Amino acid sequence: MTVTTTTVVSPSEGSGNIIDIGTGSANDTVETQQKQMLQQRLLKKENGKRWLPTALVWGDENAHRLWWEANTLDEFYSIRDEINLLKVWAQDIARQVQDQSVMIDLGCGDVTKVVPLLNELERNGKHVHYYALDISRKALENVLAKLPTSYQYVKYTGLWGTFDNLRAWCGNIQEPRWFLSLGSIFGNDEFQIAINDLKKWVSVMRPQDRMLLGLDACDDDEKVWRSYNDVKDCWHRMIRNGLALSNKVLGHEWYRPEDWEVIGVCHRRSPTLTHQWVARATRTVHCEPLGLYLAQGEEIVTNEWYKYGPDEMQKQFDAVGLSNVAQWKSPSGPVYEYLLALA
Ligand SMILES: C[S@@+](CC[C@H](N)C(=O)[O-])C[C@H]1O[C@@H](n2cnc3c(N)ncnc32)[C@H](O)[C@@H]1O
Repeated sequence: MTVTTTTVVSPSEGSGNIIDIGTGSANDTVETQQKQMLQQRLLKKENGKRWLPTALVWGDENAHRLWWEANTLDEFYSIRDEINLLKVWAQDIARQVQDQSVMIDLGCGDVTKVVPLLNELERNGKHVHYYALDISRKALENVLAKLPTSYQYVKYTGLWGTFDNLRAWCGNIQEPRWFLSLGSIFGNDEFQIAINDLKKWVSVMRPQDRMLLGLDACDDDEKVWRSYNDVKDCWHRMIRNGLALSNKVLGHEWYRPEDWEVIGVCHRRSPTLTHQWVARATRTVHCEPLGLYLAQGEEIVTNEWYKYGPDEMQKQFDAVGLSNVAQWKSPSGPVYEYLLALA
């Protein structure tokens, strides 16, 4: 793969451009990566299940519009709790960031959460280059348009690509790197899958690097249920949007809305509360060109949420060789931010 390189942490460099790290060659565009994910996880079974990968759920502008709409709803508590955490603890967190560092927001989505931290770094005159990474170019354009243009010390750049692209790209950066996983992105999976994903980041981390990992540990099943099965149907529409997008990426209309119901499933896998959306076939679904056959009642699993508390997260960190150097809790709910370094 050809990777675009760029100068980092240069005070004279302007902010606001987007670097394409996902389309180095014709075989490695965001869309070809989405297609590969679908071939591996939807067209074939993985661990006995079919999945709609999250890269499809978040894969286009429409998905982000629905997510931004969900963020405005009262019942979507976890975003508010994490914003409150980052506002209240911004000074403490910023103190841990070395001057001349690079901060990479893995799946930035929106800037509301990260802005209090960037403001604090700016106030302290820390030269930090903030890289907003996302699979959605539209999300990046939105993020960059919302970041303050008045920053003197904090620079920012968008990175368009996937997590895999980022790991390949970030090896060129010599400065201490902070990997931000805000909004329960990493660590939020079945234990072994979560560990496998975290290990990929550990493999690129150096002793001076840090990971700031935010996770919601809500234990109230009604509250969790209401937030993901909202009155405006934002999340369900988002899942259906991802299914429709997979038609486009695969080049065949295997998904027809009338053949599927989308349901929320809340489980307690002791001691952790989990939520997943499942698409269930209401009749036989057959797509010859893709070799796809699903019987009535067969299911496709989409996003899953694991509400791990600090004890369970510690088990993940121990398993991958990360040490928890600091931890903050939201003043408004059980959302935690863990600051991790190589053990
Ligand atoms: C749950 S949102 C979180 C956004 C933000 N970090 C926050 O806390 O508000 C997940 C974000 O990750 C992005 N994303 C999902 N899969 C991705 C992938 N494989 N590579 C890069 N970005 C991805 C989505 O587009 C979306 O913006």
